[in-house]
Amino acid sequence: MDAQAVSELRSRLESFQQGHLLQFWEQLDDVQKQSLFDDLSSIDLRKVTDYYKRTTRQTGGGGGTERSDESLRPVPDELSGSVSRMKSDEQGHYNTLGLQAISEGKVAALLLAGGQGTRLGVPYPKGMYDVGLLSSKPLYQLQAERILRLQHLAKKQSGVDCTIPWYIMTSEHTKGKTEEFFVQHDHFGLNASDVVIFEQDMLPCFAFDGKIILESTHQVARAPNGNGGLYQALGTHGIVTDMRQRGITCMHVYGVDNILVKVCDPVFIGFCQTKNADCGAKVVKKAFPTEPVGVICQVDNHFEVVEYSEITLQTAEKRRADGQLVYNAGNICNHYFTTDFVESVIDQYEDMLSHHVAKKKIPSVRADGTLYKPSVPNGIKMEKFVFDIFQFSQQFAVLEVLREDEFSPLKNGPSAEKDSPQTCCQALQSMHYRWVLAAGGKFVDGAGSVRPLIPPLSPSARSQSSECCEVSPLVSYAGEGLSEKVAGKSFLMPILFDADGMDLTSGDGVQVKCISNGNGSDRGEPAPKASRLA
Ligand code: UD1
Repeated sequence: MDAQAVSELRSRLESFQQGHLLQFWEQLDDVQKQSLFDDLSSIDLRKVTDYYKRTTRQTGGGGGTERSDESLRPVPDELSGSVSRMKSDEQGHYNTLGLQAISEGKVAALLLAGGQGTRLGVPYPKGMYDVGLLSSKPLYQLQAERILRLQHLAKKQSGVDCTIPWYIMTSEHTKGKTEEFFVQHDHFGLNASDVVIFEQDMLPCFAFDGKIILESTHQVARAPNGNGGLYQALGTHGIVTDMRQRGITCMHVYGVDNILVKVCDPVFIGFCQTKNADCGAKVVKKAFPTEPVGVICQVDNHFEVVEYSEITLQTAEKRRADGQLVYNAGNICNHYFTTDFVESVIDQYEDMLSHHVAKKKIPSVRADGTLYKPSVPNGIKMEKFVFDIFQFSQQFAVLEVLREDEFSPLKNGPSAEKDSPQTCCQALQSMHYRWVLAAGGKFVDGAGSVRPLIPPLSPSARSQSSECCEVSPLVSYAGEGLSEKVAGKSFLMPILFDADGMDLTSGDGVQVKCISNGNGSDRGEPAPKASRLA
């Protein structure tokens, strides 16, 4: 880096009204100078300032976009299915089709794990978070074990070994720690070569006046380019080529934070394939008008998710004659795409996807060089959204699923009322409690009396451990396979149905070990040693 190169950089920055980025230059030491020079040189100024102009023009100067009622329509009934209204043989049919596709090696899982998890506020990736289950399994492990179980179920149906490759999109904040975590845990039993971790791009953050923000005297503030950065990353890192080589024809794309996520749900895969869909989404009925979930709508002749930050209150509160919300199809960040569709997006449409604006409190540097964390939003992050490609779909499908079986996201920290570690724990354990009951098991209390059929509503897990029932994903993916283990038997809580001596290559593959946990412990502490249930 010579004086000439610095002078050229300065002129280039000034021509894009970004000269302030070198304001601390004279105060920096050589290492800091080199780091800032490299940082600034890596920015495509024309591109990012264009993004900024385009995005803020669309949103009227840095705020959110609100949609008018006129352009929106609910998703037509003929394009939607509903698990609660589906007959069991129809569901069974989709399940068989989905497992067939999995056994043929055509299905991949694609995890979106590049978010910064600001609301949860931990300094490591959300997928590593232990919400307080008896097993202490973090989100990544639950998902890995669901994949293992599904591979086993597909093999059971078809008689052939199969693999579900797992692609994990991370960002600068989450990549290194995620990789280390998977290596440390031996990829949770998956083949290392079937877990492909790649990184999305970052974009500079802008102040409301269009100036790029400095996070320190010698570093630009950057943020991941949104989960819609997926398409660019898939192209840049050759992921679709890898999918093609493996024979993948479709994928399940999902967010890291939903503890109930049915990774590569065969029913969803079979449903979308039956509809001949190139693009599909799972939804749940919105719990209340202002719930922070996007809603899937029809806009003119295509489909879109209108994000919770972009819908007017009036539209969100609109009700039908029967009292249901008109815009009720709550997006749970669970999508089905064919590989052909994703490839067409990368080749033809990626550039057309516009960024959305998120007003944020972005740590910055003051004019005197000191750092500060603002208490009110001081700038914007620009993000593409994963679902913005719905508009290019030729055949779209929506599957409404039950919230209690499929959606409980971890968004906030332990003290929050909603979407917290405790609500996640409770949702998973209530579901497992219902599975055991449905499979013919019973729960009894210490005196031998049968416990109520309604799952206990303990606010957290280990801290209320007498109320816990957990089934390992290695034992059951969606409640199947439990009856031979639990029918006619009574169980004391806390109880963990764990897999023991698992052999994925033959027979049923799983022997269940019921372990009862004598004492509870608070979240964050290691679970107490479990003992076998008599
Ligand atoms: C998301 C959905 C929203 C849905 C809600 C359900 C989007 C844009 N919004 O909202 O419609 O109702 O989930 O829980 O999908 N991520 C990345 N890279 C990024 C940003 C996010 O990989 O740059 C990942 C996150 O790690 C997470 C997922 O995308 O797994 C969703 O991101 P998050 O910020 O949690 O989205 P929400 O605002 O909750």
